[in-house]
This record gives sequence, structure tokens and C-alpha cells, in this order.
Amino acid sequence: MPTLFLKHRRTDLLELMDDSDCDLEMLRETYRQFTTVNGLLSGWRRAYKRFIRPRLTDGCSMLDIGCGGGDLLIRLAAWAAADGVRVKLTGIEPDRRAVDYASGLALPENVSIEAKTTSDFVREGRQFDIVVSNHVLHHLSTAELTAFLDDSKQLASTLVLHNDIRRNDLAFVGFLPMWFFFRNSFIVRDGLTSIRRSYREDELLEVVTDDWDVIVMPLFRNLLISEP
Ligand SMILES: C[S@@+](CC[C@H](N)C(=O)[O-])C[C@H]1O[C@@H](n2cnc3c(N)ncnc32)[C@H](O)[C@@H]1O
Repeated sequence: MPTLFLKHRRTDLLELMDDSDCDLEMLRETYRQFTTVNGLLSGWRRAYKRFIRPRLTDGCSMLDIGCGGGDLLIRLAAWAAADGVRVKLTGIEPDRRAVDYASGLALPENVSIEAKTTSDFVREGRQFDIVVSNHVLHHLSTAELTAFLDDSKQLASTLVLHNDIRRNDLAFVGFLPMWFFFRNSFIVRDGLTSIRRSYREDELLEVVTDDWDVIVMPLFRNLLISEP
């Protein structure tokens, strides 16, 4: 369905959680609530079954870039364990506040989080079988996106999957009732901003190189995929 109102990306709008001076308690509550919101809306279970699980082998490694509060790492660890596969999961996150929050959680022993950037990892020659991210693409400028995608391909040996919101009027309207459920956090304000900053499928295809594919997923998601 075409977007009638959210025709253009609003890259001028900034998310409250990106403000280095934002309220720390609200931010920590935002990380906490990400677990529920991502679980309901981000569609990772579907992406895991279709793209990740067929490639998992004992001892393989996964990287979550911009892992925020760490909920995707915890979920991936649980799904792989339930499938009887031993995996090692690493998260990187440049925001020290997110790393502090996630490090305070009871992380599974095969999950670790580092306060680094993708360029640090590329410089260090780090390699992972599978590289993923959730809700990072819409944060980046076009130049940052290009560098981010190049880095993610260099870090991965078999698969890169970047999952992000697909901009759509219905996604915006459908997110409004979240006001009733998610209070004392930036979830709703930043969620609506994220929808307005995010790409439509055609826009994303326009800014990436030919070795990337965009897969349209339910619940207004774009999956940007590459198999290095
Ligand atoms: C909306 S949060 C999403 C966090 C988490 N992935 C989730 O889905 O809950 C976006 C995260 O991307 C991180 N980020 C922004 N630019 C980044 C970059 N260039 N490399 C890695 N992470 C980045 C931010 O620090 C922020 O924590």
C-alpha cells in the first residue's frame, strides 16, 4: 500500500534516546520495554527460521550491531539453544549507556557485549559467520549507512541481515495505541520518529549497492540481506 502522508523520510527528526543528556531512568525503561516491543513487532522469529537457522552449525558466531539493551542477543541465544546448536553471540554498541544497561542483565554465558563500533571490529580483523542488526539503518545518514553496510559485509562470512522498519502510514497509525501500554519511556515518541525516519523498500534499494537485496516482511519490515 502506498504511503499518502509519510511521503518523504524525515531525517531532520531526532530520537530522544539519541540525546546524550536524556533522562537516564526513561532511557533504561526504554531498553527494558524494547524487549516487549521487539518481541511483538520486529519479526525476528520469522527471519531466524527462514534465514538464520538453516545456516547455524555448532560453534558458529553471530554479531548484533547496535545491540541496544541486548534483547535480540538473548532471543537468538535462546532459539539456537532450543534448536540444539552451540553458538557464540557478540553485541557491539557505541552507546555506553546501553552497554551498561545490557551488561547488568543476566546474559547467557555465550553472549558478550562490547562498547565498540563496527570500524573498531574491522580494524581488529574480527570475523563472524552471521551479522545482524535491528532498527539501526534509519538512524544513519547516507554516508554512515554506506560505511555501516561495508563494515557489516567485511565482518560476516556467510550472511548479513539488517532488519528495519518500513515507512508506511498504517505503521504510524497502528503504533499510536502503544501510548496506552508503554509509559515512562521514549518508546512511543521514538517509535513514531523512527517510522518517519525509516525507508520504503524502493528508497532502501536506491541507496544500497547491487549485492544487497531488500525483502519485504510482514508488520512493516524491510530485511536488507547480503551473502558475502
Ligand atoms: C533504536 S536503537 C536499537 C537498539 C536495538 N538494536 C533494538 O532493536 O532494540 C539503535 C541503536 O543503534 C546504535 N547505533 C547507532 N549508530 C550506530 C552505528 N553506526 N553502529 C552501531 N550501532 C549504532 C545506537 O547506539 C542505538 O543503541
